[in-house]
Amino acid sequence: MPVESRLIAHPCGPLRGEIELPGDKSISHRAVIFGALADGMSVIHHLLEGEDVLRTVAAFRAMGVPIQRDETGVWRIQGVGIDGLGEPMDILDMGNSGTGIRLLAGLLAGQPFFSVLTGDESLRSRPMRRVAVPLARMGARLLGRDNSRFAPLAIQGTELIGIDYISPVASAQVKTALLLAGLTAAGRTSVTEPALSRDHTERMLAAFGVEVEQNGLTVAVQGRPRLRGLELTVPGDISSAAFPMVAALLVPGSEVTLTGVGINPTRTGLLDLLLEMGADITLLNARAAGGEPVADLRVRHSRLTGIEVPPEVVPRAIDEFPVFALAAACAEGETVVTGAEELRVKESDRIRAIALGLGSQGARIEELPDGLRIQGRPEGLDGGGVAEAFGDHRVAMTLMVAGLAARHPVTVIGRANVETSFPGFAATMIGLGGRIESLTGERA
Ligand code: S3P
Repeated sequence: MPVESRLIAHPCGPLRGEIELPGDKSISHRAVIFGALADGMSVIHHLLEGEDVLRTVAAFRAMGVPIQRDETGVWRIQGVGIDGLGEPMDILDMGNSGTGIRLLAGLLAGQPFFSVLTGDESLRSRPMRRVAVPLARMGARLLGRDNSRFAPLAIQGTELIGIDYISPVASAQVKTALLLAGLTAAGRTSVTEPALSRDHTERMLAAFGVEVEQNGLTVAVQGRPRLRGLELTVPGDISSAAFPMVAALLVPGSEVTLTGVGINPTRTGLLDLLLEMGADITLLNARAAGGEPVADLRVRHSRLTGIEVPPEVVPRAIDEFPVFALAAACAEGETVVTGAEELRVKESDRIRAIALGLGSQGARIEELPDGLRIQGRPEGLDGGGVAEAFGDHRVAMTLMVAGLAARHPVTVIGRANVETSFPGFAATMIGLGGRIESLTGERA
């Protein structure tokens, strides 16, 4: 009989306290990848030890890169250089991670060996042609299921040639996959996006000593550079901060400080949207860490007002829409999100998952082809129901925050593995005064 775990989030009193968020997931993947490709040792502090990043660590270990964690949580990567990876003996299983599989597809396309990339059920149903097609133009020999639409991906590495690619999607995964292929390719590789996606790759490559050309929405690298190992501290993940942030906004009497959060402007769309809705969020102690801007965020309970989300903000808030939708569902008035069709191809179809999940707890929320229309209920959600997470960590955390702020508990089912991006989420929320319990039981 399958074992099903359920998480139950209960309505709670004010959330109060100060917390440090786990390391940024995007930056952590890149730190491992570039550290492995560098000459010399890289020392990484505050790496996210979530499942996605640990899959990337395992993949590089399988290609012969010595990576160690000491007892204080510091990671040391003995870089092997861009020509030093070895053929993995087995399939590389990237788990739930779109970033892991797409970035590695780009890197492995130019390596002189054979490799196979796969992942869990969710990852095996996410689109891969967005990387497979441009990589083929560089000369890559890469095949996947259903005419290369889906993983598993089989890659016979070969010599690549740089291209100028105009991407139809604002995707940092596509951009980074091509730049990684470009590192091993002959000549120059450029990527032009329709809107700026997160720029951690550009920042981190520069920190590793690679010359990165940036001109508006175009970024380019020359093939075969040398990366120099470095010491780096990964900022706290603003995408994880989003959950305690929205919880504090919604639960009356709350005041929470989130320390060391990355506030890279390509990632702060949620902050801008919440501030426009009337959120009481103050940025304190702005500083830099690892080539990225960082600050502490003080968040107080606020009355929010619905807004029309400008489509140009969407790429800067792409991972935050599940929890943003919850904030909107508890605001005064209407909120409309459009231009966000990318949400349909995330860890789940997030437009559907959120409309169903929050709808089942009393939210007035309507699915649009490329977004959501939400009529806020400032009195808060009813809760009291069972909501499905569709195996999506961010949907699961959104539903749990919904329970903390609702009138009745919310029970979350459906392979809700929050360890993907936010290890210790429940404990963190409990530490602030939240009430979350985990039940494991057999499903008939
Ligand atoms: C990521 C890019 C985004 C984001 C994902 C992480 C990255 O995906 O949703 O969580 O680290 O490059 P897309 O590139 O598909 O937009």
